[in-house]
Amino acid sequence: MTKTPSIEENLLRIFFDNKDHPLSGEDLAHRLNVSRTAVWNHMESLRKAGFEIEARPHVGYRLTATPDRLLPDEIKARLKTNHFGKVIHSYEEVDSTNDLALRLAEEGAPEGTVVIAESQRKGRGRLGRPWHSSRNKGLWFSLILRPKLIPSKVSLITLTAALAVVRVVSAYIKKAPKIKWPNDVHFEGKKLCGILSEMSSSPGQIRHVIIGVGINLNQEEGDFPEELRSGATSVRLESEKVVSRVPFLSVLLAEWEKLYLELADRSDEIVREIKSVCDTLNQLIQVKQGEQTISGTAIDFDLDGALLLRRPDGNIEKILSGDLLHVTGH
Ligand code: BTN
Repeated sequence: MTKTPSIEENLLRIFFDNKDHPLSGEDLAHRLNVSRTAVWNHMESLRKAGFEIEARPHVGYRLTATPDRLLPDEIKARLKTNHFGKVIHSYEEVDSTNDLALRLAEEGAPEGTVVIAESQRKGRGRLGRPWHSSRNKGLWFSLILRPKLIPSKVSLITLTAALAVVRVVSAYIKKAPKIKWPNDVHFEGKKLCGILSEMSSSPGQIRHVIIGVGINLNQEEGDFPEELRSGATSVRLESEKVVSRVPFLSVLLAEWEKLYLELADRSDEIVREIKSVCDTLNQLIQVKQGEQTISGTAIDFDLDGALLLRRPDGNIEKILSGDLLHVTGH
């Protein structure tokens, strides 16, 4: 069930679709099917939220700046998706967006629901590690998916999210970032994005999977805690440009939705593209699984997104998950 768009959302969509063309109050009232007074009132409510709207007599209204806030009306007005982000829960601060998304999924939230926050008190990474989510500097969000897939395919879904991040970040940084299997996006060995997938399944069927995505966008070096500085980077640090977070998010959701829908009939092509941007392949690696450490050369992925490792004795082992260290290279 998708909520009817608010007038503010519709107003913003009209502004985005008519960039640089001033729109008269009369035209806006007509397009929105409300009175000119109502247009003015909704314009004021957008201004209060931080949008800058220029009003020129006899010319019309023009949106000149948007606030750096994760407002659902703006996110939805920019979205070009059918499901992803159609329902958005946006918060100033939460413990973890994955926890909230998990609860909403259990209560029946539709596929594509997004939970996003400006900061997290207890952001979680893989293997119980904390995830540092500095306020307003990045994108910390979780997406609810209900794929009609068998549970062993979940790693492919995580990799698809990583591929969408690589595609979008590539438009900002001259050199494309790389996927570090199973769930990181790196730039020259420094982490740009981490993905945490948490699945609930019944035998043979995924019930829902929460994909938590943390992307470092606008941090400068001092925004990372000391212990992370040598291993983390942001799009801003690599491109020397401040990233507008809402347009970035809307493009990412569109790219990701496209890939996710394509998984049904062209997963082999998607796996091929993932391989082409994954710098884990052909590396000597160590995978820590609990107390055990397995080493070998990463030679390939299978169609589920599992990593195939050639052991020193020549045997091939299929790795479904684990903590991975690149022994050669990054
Ligand atoms: C990792 O690299 O270990 C995964 C990091 C995942 C972080 C994101 S931020 C949004 C979502 N909420 C969380 O608590 N974690 C994920």
